Amino acid sequence: MSARYPQLRLRRTRATPWSRRLHAETLLTPADLIWPLFVVEGKGVEQPIASLPGVSRWSVDRIVERAREARDAGIACLALFPYTQPERRTADGREALNPDNLMCRATRALKEAVPEIGVLTDVALDPYTSHGHDGLLDEAGYVLNDATADMLVGQALNQAAAGADIIAPSDMMDGRVGLIRDALEGDGRHNVQIMSYAAKYASGFYGPFRDAVGSGGLLKGDKKTYQMDHANAEEALREVALDLAEGADSVMVKPGLPYLDIIHRVKQRFEVPVFAYQVSGEYAMLEAAVAAGVADRDAVVLETLTAFKRAGCSGVLTYHALHAARLLG
Ligand code: PBG
Repeated sequence: MSARYPQLRLRRTRATPWSRRLHAETLLTPADLIWPLFVVEGKGVEQPIASLPGVSRWSVDRIVERAREARDAGIACLALFPYTQPERRTADGREALNPDNLMCRATRALKEAVPEIGVLTDVALDPYTSHGHDGLLDEAGYVLNDATADMLVGQALNQAAAGADIIAPSDMMDGRVGLIRDALEGDGRHNVQIMSYAAKYASGFYGPFRDAVGSGGLLKGDKKTYQMDHANAEEALREVALDLAEGADSVMVKPGLPYLDIIHRVKQRFEVPVFAYQVSGEYAMLEAAVAAGVADRDAVVLETLTAFKRAGCSGVLTYHALHAARLLG
């Protein structure tokens, strides 16, 4: 046996498609995907979002059609975000508490027409405020923590009453997970889950989302007094520890790809269900690369989504969910 050539050859198991499948360490399936959808008033309405090519706002009737497509493709869950009419946006975001708001009507319609698919609802005031922040402001423009948390509790109860399966607080106020859990228990909603946006960073990748919900043009300043500094990782672990102690069933890291290290550390440390949000700016960046002819959509979609699972995710929120599910199906 010549010592010049290797006997251990890692290429051996890569030689054929069946063998690569047999040795795959990570499996991505449609059931790992949560599909974010934007809801708008009206009937029969589709409004394409310029900064998110391929993504539209849909009226409630058409969201129901999207839900059927998602269910048929094996997607586990939808995440809903409303485009609130400008005249319903106020400084205190009280439309969030309206039992007949767009989110609640969409949730009820989905749970009635397509009960097999989960509905996740986002808890934060930014789609409802006239200033685009996630909470209530004091005179200096600082987002008040505890007064905001009280509003978020009301918003969460409102969404749960409409039939939401997963309540997902995305606001980054301190203590809100515990308050929401308490309120849900008090309301007898024991099986309504909380997926907290535990490690949510103040990111440059949220721009197209803010166009989609119509908060972008309104937002004054940034969200750095409540969302995390992208320099920090230990702080993310503290955020996760707190949200779990307060009763979160699962935790989210957001954005996605630039934060795979955080996902990995959270999974290693806490051994709980971790989700990633591949956010609007990440989606737009991939689509721009595809449009520029420098990337193949199918390849980069499956590669990035599998990377989240490899890093430790149970699932991923992605605007590519339907496309990916169909590729995988
Ligand atoms: C708002 C919220 C944001 C996203 C989800 N919920 C934006 C923000 O914090 O400004 C971003 C999602 C995306 O960019 O796809 N609380």
